[in-house]
Amino acid sequence: MRTQIVAGNWKMNNDLAQTQALISDLKKQIQTSNAEVMIAPTFTNLYSAFEALRNTNIEVIAQNMHFAKNGAYTGEISACMLKSVGVETVILGHSERRAYFNETDELLAQKVEAALENNMRIIFCFGEELADRKSDNHFNIVESQIKNALFHLSSDAWSSIVLAYEPVWAIGTGETASPEQAQEMHAFIRKTIDAKYGSDVANSTSILYGGSVKPVNAKEIFSNPDVDGGLIGGAALNAEDFFAIINAFGEK
Ligand code: 13P
Repeated sequence: MRTQIVAGNWKMNNDLAQTQALISDLKKQIQTSNAEVMIAPTFTNLYSAFEALRNTNIEVIAQNMHFAKNGAYTGEISACMLKSVGVETVILGHSERRAYFNETDELLAQKVEAALENNMRIIFCFGEELADRKSDNHFNIVESQIKNALFHLSSDAWSSIVLAYEPVWAIGTGETASPEQAQEMHAFIRKTIDAKYGSDVANSTSILYGGSVKPVNAKEIFSNPDVDGGLIGGAALNAEDFFAIINAFGEK
């Protein structure tokens, strides 16, 4: 069975005190779950989050990293720096990185390489914009985002890759892909991987959905056969909502 994952992407929210308070709320509610649970606080709070969640089943992950090992890249953070504070998984390719920081498929391919060289797991994000969907170009866009950044990898490398389909029009907008739209795209993604790598890789790759997942819609979205979890933004900033979403898996 594929790994099921619910990951909270905190984005640029929560200073140190707020991070500690939210983690303390999370710890009060920790319970066993069918899904792996992760949170991605901002860089400055990764270490304290890691320390606070040591020996729990909540993994602390990063929102981004640079591809170089070290050097003259002012303001950047490398894979080995993340690993040195306990981080084993990194989100790459989030649409906000693509849109506001000009991250291209080519750059992301380099970041993917660097993460794999450091034995990190990757949650690789992609998704179409509203105009792409309106012009019926969403499948082409998603296919090219995956191919350009990931199809140079060996089959073996795919055991470290988790995919996250995040339609840009659904992020932070309160608008969610319908369960049918999510399933349709996730099935297409799996078929695309199958065509290149075969069914073993395709059937063992977890594909998460992201974009306005809330307690009210999580169960319906997660009940789709090709949806293996969620990447949660706004609702992950509240412990109760985050756990309600995690618990939606109990019902899958
Ligand atoms: P929202 O859940 O706030 O729409 O954000 C989704 C997201 O971007 C997760 O990475």
